[in-house]
Amino acid sequence: MVCVACRGAEADAGAAPTDAPTPVSAALDSMGVCTRCGVVWPTVPCGARVVPVVHADGAMADHLADAATALSGGLAELARRWTAGERSRWQDALWTYGPAQLGALLEPPVAQPDQSWVTAFLDDLDALPDGPVLLLGGALGGEALVLPAAWHGSRDVVVLESHPWLVAASGALLAAEPSLGVLRRPGVLEARPLALPPAARQVLSAVRVVLGDAHDPPFEAGAFAAIVALNVVDSVADPWTVMQQCEALLRPGGALLLSAPWQGDDAVTPADRRLDAGLPADADVPWQVACRVTGAAIPGVLDGLALQHLERGLAWPLRVHDRLTWRYEVDALLLRRV
Ligand SMILES: C[S@@+](CC[C@H](N)C(=O)[O-])C[C@H]1O[C@@H](n2cnc3c(N)ncnc32)[C@H](O)[C@@H]1O
Ligand SMILES: [Zn+2]
Repeated sequence: MVCVACRGAEADAGAAPTDAPTPVSAALDSMGVCTRCGVVWPTVPCGARVVPVVHADGAMADHLADAATALSGGLAELARRWTAGERSRWQDALWTYGPAQLGALLEPPVAQPDQSWVTAFLDDLDALPDGPVLLLGGALGGEALVLPAAWHGSRDVVVLESHPWLVAASGALLAAEPSLGVLRRPGVLEARPLALPPAARQVLSAVRVVLGDAHDPPFEAGAFAAIVALNVVDSVADPWTVMQQCEALLRPGGALLLSAPWQGDDAVTPADRRLDAGLPADADVPWQVACRVTGAAIPGVLDGLALQHLERGLAWPLRVHDRLTWRYEVDALLLRRV
């Protein structure tokens, strides 16, 4: 990992970084240390995890610490805050993405999107280089459970996520008796036990989580063999920058699995933030987008990526509460770094 300062051109030329974060603890795991300048980033204990915070927003470590403290009080405390109207806007994502990623393991279970296509896409890869996997915008890290079984134990899995409550929850879910909140309806939050089978607990425990920004990921170029970015590129401020970061982070032959980068709901992805923005109105969008993403439509942009597989219309039900599920259809692309 490299810090924000060390990723600049001056740092590449050997200049000392000027705005390095202050070391806060000696007891860090190696994910919290810059491999170029040796600076130790702030880290925040989140339940069973220690999470490095490498984010341009200097308040992020505090946000994460607040979330971790709130979650350590258990869902009863969160439900109390919720009912008392004290919840922050941060919390709401937890009730959506906790069940979306781990709902099948709740007691009683909650329907969650079928992500067997993720496993199938990744299982099919031939000649993938050795190396770690990045779950970009990986929320609580639940996507680790749908990686191919052969990857478990043989590839390090890293989550890069910018949402402090989701990051804090990724640690809280490893508690001895974890639970997740499920919204029965707006204003009524129910704590449900999360029953992690030993194999799932092992997979999730092995995941490393970093709080950072996909626009400026704190990793060396070529650090990853695969990147999984499910329903992320349509959530970020600048999808093209994130695409270019993904290209840079992959090793030659590495794979980028993307879903829903241009699904057509303006309320979710404003038109000017879709990857297909600017295409002619009569364009056959998915194929054209694939061309753009692979550099065929804009020579020189992302031409290091080659399309391997396109899947259309995958169901992605996103449960907002017991009585409301948004039903999206998403497109997925598998790209390879040439
Ligand atoms: C629509 S959610 C998808 C979550 C998860 N991948 C899934 O499919 O369940 C988008 C995720 O991207 C994260 N995200 C948004 N902007 C980000 C950024 N700039 N850097 C890192 N993560 C980001 C959000 O916090 C959220 O967890
Ligand atoms: Zn550094």
